[in-house]
Amino acid sequence: MTATDFDKLAKIYDAEKISPWNDLYERPNSTELMGDVNGLTVLDAGCGGGKHCADLLAKGAKMHGFDLSEKMLAIAKDMLGDQINFKTANLAEKLPYQDAQFDRILCALAMHYVKDWTTPLSEFYRLLKPGGKVVISTHHPFMDHALAGGEDYFAHTLIEDSWKKPDGTLYVRYWRRPLTQMIEEIKNAGLEIDLIKEPMPLPETQKQFPDAYQKLTTQPRFIFLVLKKPD
Ligand SMILES: C[S@@+](CC[C@H](N)C(=O)[O-])C[C@H]1O[C@@H](n2cnc3c(N)ncnc32)[C@H](O)[C@@H]1O
Repeated sequence: MTATDFDKLAKIYDAEKISPWNDLYERPNSTELMGDVNGLTVLDAGCGGGKHCADLLAKGAKMHGFDLSEKMLAIAKDMLGDQINFKTANLAEKLPYQDAQFDRILCALAMHYVKDWTTPLSEFYRLLKPGGKVVISTHHPFMDHALAGGEDYFAHTLIEDSWKKPDGTLYVRYWRRPLTQMIEEIKNAGLEIDLIKEPMPLPETQKQFPDAYQKLTTQPRFIFLVLKKPD
């Protein structure tokens, strides 16, 4: 998908008041996996409208964020102003930061839009201090396996999908890769796997969004990876 495609998504994303998938499941879990970030220099890669940046800023991180979409960044800047150093950048290219600049990197729900993970993972390695960690949340290969027709789990497949949102339907394209391929790409970048997690939504999801709660507690939706640059 192009920056213009993500610009179109920005308005619909922004209009959504509370999403069980993002606000009650993905964001609380990825923010928790970032650990104690007080005083740490943190990059949010593919920061979108900046909600994770706001959470991590509140936990005392010195935040930087980038995204491909100017419209997503405009939403983030509206919310957070100059508390955060935002840039326009592409995960699939060399990133505009120095070697070993960050203690932690978060990449929430952006990696499945990238066909080849070689560049983003080697860039995360370059940007991290030794011992630094990157937390990635992305589509679980099991979830997308059914959408891809359920035929070849081991295939690397482009999926075309539509998501119904309160303000319209989003047409999206993203890449599904098997877990084996993720692990191979991580190892090739020199990163160590600290944790692979399939977490649960927050308990309040059950009352507020019973259907989403049922799905999230019985089928994997996103997979969470904590990767470490060796000391
Ligand atoms: C599903 S949104 C997630 C936004 C935010 N991380 C969150 O979880 O709320 C995906 C984001 O990834 C960004 N994105 C997609 N491909 C990208 C790329 N190649 N480089 C940088 N950002 C990208 C999109 O513009 C969009 O803001």
